Amino acid sequence: MEKNIVPEKYKVTVAQRRSKNKHNSLLIWFTGLSGSGKSTIANLVEQRLFELGIATYALDGDNIRGGINKNLSFSPEDRTENIRRIAEIASLMIDAGLVVLGAFISPYKKDRENIKKILKDATFVEVFINTSVEECERRDVKGLYKKARAGKIQNMTGVTAPYEAPENPDIEIQTEKETIAQAVDKIVAYIIPKLKLTDE
Ligand code: ADX
Repeated sequence: MEKNIVPEKYKVTVAQRRSKNKHNSLLIWFTGLSGSGKSTIANLVEQRLFELGIATYALDGDNIRGGINKNLSFSPEDRTENIRRIAEIASLMIDAGLVVLGAFISPYKKDRENIKKILKDATFVEVFINTSVEECERRDVKGLYKKARAGKIQNMTGVTAPYEAPENPDIEIQTEKETIAQAVDKIVAYIIPKLKLTDE
């Protein structure tokens, strides 16, 4: 922390906010290649939780990069900074009592590890949306793989930039083997017990 900065302590606590919401606050992190299905699945998981009365908020790569992170590129250093800022934002939202969903490629293992450090003791659930680069390229919903192959996009994850797959994710979704509905059910079933307040 910078010199001469003295953190202010506010009286309303995260425990009080969680208690008011009647559920725990935590981060569900979706990692995987561009076009793997992260946002689609995160969107449906959020809808399901919202219908259950959970206070949620979703952070998404393309949205965040259009706003607070619009000065960042896809270089390794900027991706690290992208994920660091998002983790800080998620940490504030967890403090505010929300169940936060984050859908970001987050290709580097060290950056995903750093999220846990930033969150301190808050729950972090890592969901690996495991779709092969061949399948993402076949779908190519945004046409980015085509552009990358044509040399019009640099540092494209899976083509000219690396993706370090999680070794021990909390949940792995193989979108080429399971349906979106099955994936959503699996994630929601995993999350629900974690929403319980421990002192209840
Ligand atoms: S991350 O690597 O820093 O975690 P992030 O999730 O924020 O990436 O943004 C990824 C989105 O940016 C992709 O879904 C895609 O739409 C877009 N994008 C643009 N250029 C690239 C690129 N070179 N590599 C990957 N995604 C890109």
